[in-house]
Formats: sequence, structure tokens, C-alpha cells
Amino acid sequence: MLVIPHGPDHVVPTASPGIRWLNRNMNQPIAVVTGASSGIGAASARALAADGFRVFCAARRIDRLEALAAEIGGVAVRCDTTDPASVRGLVEIVGERVDLLLNNAGGAIGVDPIETADPDDWNRMYQINVAGTLRVTQGLLPAVEAAHGAMVFITSTAAETAYEGGGGYCGAKSAERYLVGSLRLELAGRPIRVCEISPGMVHTEEFSLVRLGDQAAADAVYAGVDHPLLAEDIAEAVRWIASLSEYVNIDRLVIRPRAQASNWKVARDA
Ligand SMILES: NC(=O)c1ccc[n+]([C@@H]2O[C@H](COP(=O)([O-])OP(=O)(O)OC[C@H]3O[C@@H](n4cnc5c(N)ncnc54)[C@H](OP(=O)(O)O)[C@@H]3O)[C@@H](O)[C@H]2O)c1
Repeated sequence: MLVIPHGPDHVVPTASPGIRWLNRNMNQPIAVVTGASSGIGAASARALAADGFRVFCAARRIDRLEALAAEIGGVAVRCDTTDPASVRGLVEIVGERVDLLLNNAGGAIGVDPIETADPDDWNRMYQINVAGTLRVTQGLLPAVEAAHGAMVFITSTAAETAYEGGGGYCGAKSAERYLVGSLRLELAGRPIRVCEISPGMVHTEEFSLVRLGDQAAADAVYAGVDHPLLAEDIAEAVRWIASLSEYVNIDRLVIRPRAQASNWKVARDA
């Protein structure tokens, strides 16, 4: 396996031979997926690769990215979106054209009420969901514009309305939503689509585990729910947006499982 040192991170071009990504087919569309090491990001990377994209898979856990990149003929890039130097490394590696940027890295930490919530948890959520997204967006904006490409942001139905225990996450995802809205206005007239997907309950392996820190508590989130969404359901929306004409902007898609009528109204088996 070839490992190319690159600043604080490294890149592992998994397609053989050697550094094929450096002299890639210029006609092949390029996608960058942040948070590709699990859940919605990994499923989206697979869906985009199946549609012909060469996918740069970015996250912190390089072992997972290497396996994914090997599977889909993509490129694994270790990148911590909360670290400016790490994002600069990603931008440099990706190159001058990006047809699709999926800003997906993010997540929730805790469900504490406002009365007792830890400000450090809120700060981490803000760093991952907002500041990191901003950094990646700024870094790759010239490459997306050069390709007349699209930026797709995975926000959340947490941005639709408040719920108990959701103050920090609702706030962070709302901030990300307003980043998207402002960006669309600021870029009007320039050749970049700015799209938002707002998922409801998606049963991914890690989201609730990261949030609650306990597998039993994470499992309880989905208990008795008739088919929560799967990561592949959101990936299909990403794939669809990517497939549209460069003149068609999907401002926002709100996608929930049938069993979830609102953030707090979820039908469960008795
Ligand atoms: N699951 C849901 O119900 C749901 C609903 C609405 C919205 N969402 C949103 O959808 C996105 C994906 O969620 P998911 O369910 O797929 O969760 P997940 O499986 O926990 O995936 C989160 C991804 O973000 C990456 N990540 C976290 N911090 C990062 C950092 N500092 N730098 C780079 N990558 C980082 C993680 O990779 P590493 O740990 O390897 O870095 C992981 O690949 C998130 O933005 C989440 O807020 C999820």
C-alpha cells in the first residue's frame, strides 16, 4: 500500500497502480464526502461511486476509509474538519475540480436539558457541525465553482424545531442550516448549486452511540419503530441531487421515516 505523507495527515490512494489519482481521467466526475467512515457518509460514497464518481472519502478513522476506498475505487483522506491544517491538506489533495461536495461530517453529543447541559459538549457540536462545515466549504468552494458543481449539506430535522434534550444539537444544526441559506444567497448568479438534506431518524450504527455513549441507550432510540430510515435512504437522495442538471437546485429535502410524523411524534410498537 502506498502512503503519501501530507502535512499532518496522509492519503492512501487505494486504486492500483501507484498514484493513479494524480493522473486521473479528467472526464470522471469528482466527489468529496466528509464523514465517510460510517453511516450516511459511507453509504453516500458508495452510491456516488456506483454512479461513476471518483470519491475522496474524508474522516478521521483512516482504517475505515481505506477499506471503503478500496471497495469503491476511491481515495482515503484522513481529515479532521475541526483542524484547519487538516482541512487545508484535504483541499490540496483533492485538486482543482470537485463536482459534488457532501458536507456530512457531524453529529450530536448528549441529550442533557438546558438546565444541566455541559457547554463543552455544545462547543464540540458547534465545532463539528458548523465550524468544520464552514472550513471545508470555504476550502473547496473554488474547486466546486470550477466544475459548476454542487454542495450538499446534511443538516437534520433537529433544525426544524426544538425538542427536549435537543438544545445543543438543534442549535448547531440550525446554525448549519443558516450557513447553507446564506451561502445560497451569496452565490446567486455563480455556477454552484447549494442543497440541503434534512434527515429525521436514521438508524446508523454510530450516531446514537456517539450521542448517548451507551449501546443499550442507543438501541432504545429505535426500539419498536417500524423501519427507521437507513443510511442508504439518505444516500439515494444525495445520488439523485448529484444526477440533476447543474441548473436545478434542490433547496431543502426533509426526509423522515413514515413512522415519524415530527421530531417528538414517533409511532412505536407497544
Ligand atoms: N443518524 C441520524 O438519525 C441523523 C439524522 C439527521 C442528521 N444526521 C446527520 O447526518 C450526518 C451523518 O450522521 P450518521 O448518522 O451517518 O452518523 P455517524 O455514523 O456517527 O457518522 C458521523 C461521521 O462524521 C465523522 N466525523 C465526526 N467528527 C469528525 C471530524 N471532526 N472530522 C471529520 N469527520 C468527522 C465520523 O468519522 P470519524 O469519527 O472517523 O471522523 C463519521 O464518519 C451528521 O452530520 C448527522 O448530524 C444524522
